[in-house]
Amino acid sequence: MIKKGIILAGGKGTRMSPLTKAVNKQLLPIYDKPLIFYPLSILMLAKIRDILIIVNKGELEQYKKIIPDGKRLGIKITYKEQDKPRGLPDAFILGEKFIKNQHVAMILGDNFFYGQSLTKMLLNCVRNKSGAKVLLHKVLNPEKYGVAKLKNKKIVSINEKPKKFISNLAITGLYFFDNKVVKFSKELKPSKRKELEITDLLKKYKKKGKLTAELIGRGGAWLDTGSIEDFYKTSNFVSAIENQQGFKIACLEEIALNYNWIDKKKISTAINFYGNCEYSKYLKKIIS
Ligand code: TTP
Repeated sequence: MIKKGIILAGGKGTRMSPLTKAVNKQLLPIYDKPLIFYPLSILMLAKIRDILIIVNKGELEQYKKIIPDGKRLGIKITYKEQDKPRGLPDAFILGEKFIKNQHVAMILGDNFFYGQSLTKMLLNCVRNKSGAKVLLHKVLNPEKYGVAKLKNKKIVSINEKPKKFISNLAITGLYFFDNKVVKFSKELKPSKRKELEITDLLKKYKKKGKLTAELIGRGGAWLDTGSIEDFYKTSNFVSAIENQQGFKIACLEEIALNYNWIDKKKISTAINFYGNCEYSKYLKKIIS
């Protein structure tokens, strides 16, 4: 059972400059909440309660203003600073002491997941006993992503931003690893762009026959919010769903309450913390 999770919430956010010059991307709003709420909600839905958030050096105080620690949510949150973006597998080197001898899930701070059977899939993924597991989603422009080719449900090849068509299944930013991930990440050499590459890490698992995948089907949405266009697309998506159904996506306190990690008193504390806003009104509705 995977009980630990990492959110990688640093990065330069170059594609979203000048928005990201003064504020980190993960603190910008996706409709009515900061982006970081969405990946955090995914780890919580997977019942992961011990979470490390990796942020850029110098940005810790801003994050702590919105998520001081996990107490309000019945979870444990630890922060670690990354001095510069060294690539996604750097999460497991920075997180070595946090991971200890356990298995770990990692989600990119700018990835958005939504869908009916998502929680069921997540709870299945955290049961991963050994090796690595990735989630795949069909896309129209595979040349923009790391992609995986499947044969009989097994990954036969993975390629980063392939120029020639190989597969239309993008590897999303949510990964489940056994404890070897720390050792494997330390063995990686930086690529031409001077970063450790997640595809190189996944290739190590594949070589050992230890890389498996789950498909997010048509009923599930995966949106990478890295560009301004995609950022607003995601924001519109959340707005459309929330205003149509009356449910909130990624209401952290609601998830914690549903899992009985917190009681209604803690929700009242949260209402005081957020103040008079739509989010608080929603929390009031939950406990009334
Ligand atoms: P990217 O989208 O690859 O990078 P970025 O967010 O800096 O954006 P841009 O390409 O426009 O400069 O990163 C994916 C996510 O991982 C994003 O949420 C930032 C985070 N990240 C880190 O925290 N540390 C890292 O070393 C890298 C490479 C990314």
